[in-house]
Amino acid sequence: MNVGILGCGAIANIITNFVAEGKLVGVDLKFFYDRDMERAENLASQVDGTVVLKIDDLLDQVDLVIETASPQAVKEIVPQILNRGKDVIIMSVGALIDSDLRNELEKLAEQNNSRIYIPSGAIVGLDGIKAASIGKIHQVSLITRKPPKSLGISAETETVLYEGKSKDAVLKFPMNINVAATLSIACGKEIDVKIIADPNVDRNSHEVHMVGDFGELKTTTHNMRCSINPKTSVLAAYSAIKLLKSLNENLKIGT
Ligand SMILES: NC(=O)c1ccc[n+]([C@@H]2O[C@H](COP(=O)([O-])OP(=O)(O)OC[C@H]3O[C@@H](n4cnc5c(N)ncnc54)[C@H](O)[C@@H]3O)[C@@H](O)[C@H]2O)c1
Repeated sequence: MNVGILGCGAIANIITNFVAEGKLVGVDLKFFYDRDMERAENLASQVDGTVVLKIDDLLDQVDLVIETASPQAVKEIVPQILNRGKDVIIMSVGALIDSDLRNELEKLAEQNNSRIYIPSGAIVGLDGIKAASIGKIHQVSLITRKPPKSLGISAETETVLYEGKSKDAVLKFPMNINVAATLSIACGKEIDVKIIADPNVDRNSHEVHMVGDFGELKTTTHNMRCSINPKTSVLAAYSAIKLLKSLNENLKIGT
């Protein structure tokens, strides 16, 4: 499978290192695009890859593009990828909380026989959450707790930055609240979100609580942060790698 990367930051670095170490069999990571050329060049050099000046230049030569850029890139560039019949893995899932955009992308994927993949990202338990959503869901909540630096602020004491519904949270913290968007899309409903800046923690944590016909589930994830971008959790990059691996697997496990 020939693969291109859109956005050569923290997540793309982890994925590319993995490929450079020969741990992603069947994935030929060859093309790199970033509006910051230097970033694209750095990554491409690790796997003897090619830097392209615009996304169009790689679309003829790949089967799949991994979006690890920004919500804006999802809006502006992902439609081009789908229009050319290519598959896409979307990491900036916050963009998809906008149901108009989500519907438009789904329609494009259907028309062009392409697939949109959303990895589980920085949380655990998405398989159970998806299965639980087959029945009636009564309540879903997410508490995200991060060091202030990870939220792009400074705070001396624990500070609740947001409490409300997922759609609003994603609009107010677009680069930081992909987990809320992923959960909300997986459940097919708005969820309750609390975002806390906590100077006493050094990890990005997510607590999920769900109640429905299936019973009740609680998950907590304490994530190591990426050295290149502390807003991003290492697990998010790993989830994209696992998804890439699973595309070539004959035995699939989990929902
Ligand atoms: N799904 C999840 O759970 C999850 C977890 C962490 C991060 N994310 C999201 O994944 C994305 C990537 O995260 P990261 O930590 O690697 O980010 P990063 O800031 O380290 O890197 C992003 C790169 O993309 C480039 N870029 C941004 N917009 C672009 C555009 N329109 N065109 C071309 N290049 C563009 C930037 O120059 C940068 O090099 C972010 O949107 C982030 O919010 C999702």
